Amino acid sequence: METKADRGVTLWFTGLSGSGKSTVSEIVEVVLRDAGYKVEVLDGDIVRTNLSKGLGFSKEDRDLNIKRIGFVCNLLTRNGVIAIAAAISPYKEVRDYNRKEIGDFLEVFCKCPIEVLIERDVKGLYKKALSGEIKNFTGVSDPYEEPENPEITIRSDSETPEVSARIVLDKMVEFGYVDKERLMSVFGSEDDEKIKKRLEDLGYI
Ligand code: ADX
Repeated sequence: METKADRGVTLWFTGLSGSGKSTVSEIVEVVLRDAGYKVEVLDGDIVRTNLSKGLGFSKEDRDLNIKRIGFVCNLLTRNGVIAIAAAISPYKEVRDYNRKEIGDFLEVFCKCPIEVLIERDVKGLYKKALSGEIKNFTGVSDPYEEPENPEITIRSDSETPEVSARIVLDKMVEFGYVDKERLMSVFGSEDDEKIKKRLEDLGYI
């Protein structure tokens, strides 16, 4: 049976630094690939070491970074690949531009209160941003425009990454981009323990 995934889709993770974009997108990537889908991840931190090397964090540079990621996602999507973007992408206008260009586009809002992110501070960047050592830091001294109508919202303050990934995958099924049978053939129905074990085996969690 032909599903929308034959045309591919872009899964666009947006959210503050530390809100779970990379972690959850990695889990989604592994599960989809295991289910036989072609998947590519474009992660802001990695893209900034190659495709967007040299760009900074002004609005202009961020918009350029997001447009470049969107351009690649578009190429992949129209060739039947599931493209996963994981970048802060703080500005609504350029996210919406990518949505319009790509068409098959699901926005995943990684929602988490800034207080929780400051408390966690996995990379130690919030401390530096609050002390002024890093300027124009998103959520502290630079804007983040929340999506108004994201297809998917996940909450890293109250969900484990596995649960968030599961929510994303279920929504992909609901939107017709992923075939439920194909997904279940790998993991069995509603079997979160199996998914967890598989991800542990792969060294992801
Ligand atoms: S975006 O705004 O252009 O979408 P992107 O996701 O590529 O950002 O990169 C964000 C990452 O760069 C953060 O996770 C963090 O590690 C690092 N970073 C360094 N400086 C900043 C800053 N001023 N604001 C946000 N993130 C920064």
